[in-house]
Amino acid sequence: MTITTDYAGKLITIERFILDQQQAHPEATGTLTNILYDMALGAKIIASKTTRAGLAEILGSAGEENVQGEEVQKLDAFAQRTIFRLNDHTGRLAVMASEEVEQVIPIPKQFPVGKYVLLFDPLDGSSNIDVNVSVGTIFAIYRRKTKEGPGTLTDCLQKGRKLVAAGYILYGSSTMMVYSTGNGVHGFTLDPAIGEFLLSHPNIRMPAVPKYYSANQGYQPYWSPGVQAFTEWLQRDTPEKKALSLRYIGSLVADFHRNLLTGGIFFYPADTKDPKKPVGKLRLLYEASPLAFLAEQAGGYASNGTQAILDIEPTELHQRVPLYIGNRMLVEKAEAMIREYDEASVVA
Ligand code: AHG
Ligand code: MN
Ligand code: MN
Repeated sequence: MTITTDYAGKLITIERFILDQQQAHPEATGTLTNILYDMALGAKIIASKTTRAGLAEILGSAGEENVQGEEVQKLDAFAQRTIFRLNDHTGRLAVMASEEVEQVIPIPKQFPVGKYVLLFDPLDGSSNIDVNVSVGTIFAIYRRKTKEGPGTLTDCLQKGRKLVAAGYILYGSSTMMVYSTGNGVHGFTLDPAIGEFLLSHPNIRMPAVPKYYSANQGYQPYWSPGVQAFTEWLQRDTPEKKALSLRYIGSLVADFHRNLLTGGIFFYPADTKDPKKPVGKLRLLYEASPLAFLAEQAGGYASNGTQAILDIEPTELHQRVPLYIGNRMLVEKAEAMIREYDEASVVA
């Protein structure tokens, strides 16, 4: 059921909108609504640090390495702690998982467990923090699979088709929260003067005519022949589309958000050189799946080059996948060229 109410031009806060959406689900208990409220609150708290990162002793490295083998930035750690502390005591979650923590994050014993699971990338685009380029937060919400007791890894390893809600916060020229509960994609802009997220982008739909492609062409020598051919195809006029311009920020949330609004494709292919990235860099559970959910809700599509991201059955918490996400026509073209050039060579 998509949203029928015409929200255009209405002054409406994210809390009011979330509550409106809940009316569409008579069986709803309000728990999911409250988790989304808490994500919006977390966004405001993290935004208060990102907008003055240079002043708040929040720049630079936290002096530790995370499970990804990446240097943890202070803001990564701050965002991680903020989201954990907003959700650990509410009794809404059975378990959490974060890019920054190797194992699943149990609900502390002194607090009740609930029926939802929250997976998140607390701060996406960390390498951009110290140079004042947009960063983001990505979250994915599932129903628990296990019946009762503390949530487990099983509750976290769910394919994207099972998502109940997903979204991101973009700390950019303005702070935006964009999310979907399966009834379209809706964007809210933070008015810092009143500390409220106001509806600014109701029912976002990916434009049919794409404008940009986003990829780190510094790795192009290590892409497969199919991906090389696809990249060359993007750069010239073809019967399906005009030549696309390249825009690459290096923060997945920022690159995805721009392509969501303008039409285009982001891709981070498998890297045939770096043994750490044989299937690319991006993580399935808290980067690719939630954004794939949003892409499909906005009329787009996301693939790992051979199948829909949302159909991939996860086997590990931090597993990586190649990611092609944006206009369905462009993503399906990538799949077709990979099939034509790469699978043929594999078969041969
Ligand atoms: P994170 O900061 O959460 O580790 O994510 C960074 C990711 C993603 O945001 C971005 O698209 C990608 O890393 C950029 O990788 P390269 O620097 O290799 O292009
Ligand atoms: Mn990330
Ligand atoms: Mn991150």
